[in-house]
Amino acid sequence: MMRPITCANCHGPEGRGGRVTMMMARFDVPDITWGKLTQGEHREENSAKDEHEEHPPYTEETLKSAITRGINPAGEPLDDEMPHWSMSGQDLDDLVGFIKTLD
Ligand code: HEC
Repeated sequence: MMRPITCANCHGPEGRGGRVTMMMARFDVPDITWGKLTQGEHREENSAKDEHEEHPPYTEETLKSAITRGINPAGEPLDDEMPHWSMSGQDLDDLVGFIKTLD
């Protein structure tokens, strides 16, 4: 599947996040390595903002909601910088499988 940009453009090749400058906008991107996502005390250390700091650990299902609907496990919308992705169940499974290899 062709995508104009990939997760790595923002979250980095190893999913570790950081600060991104894109189209004249700068924003902080969270670490999406599986270990971090599924930790109870997940924090966006790089984030200047306090919102979305705490939410329950991710599971496969809530990770899929974050990717396709931009909703975190607390049921809150993610910031607009995080795109919503339409992908088939198989692609989504593959992607979740890939994120699980990031640690
Ligand atoms: C254009 C930049 C960009 C791209 C591309 C992008 N993301 Fe994100 N992503 C973000 C930003 C910014 C946030 C933080 C949103 C927030 O805090 O509300 C985020 C948040 C997330 C979160 C939630 C993390 C958390 O702590 O709640 C997950 C999971 C995630 N991204 C996965 C992905 C995956 C998987 C892809 C590829 C399909 C992807 N992202 C592509 C910018 C991006």
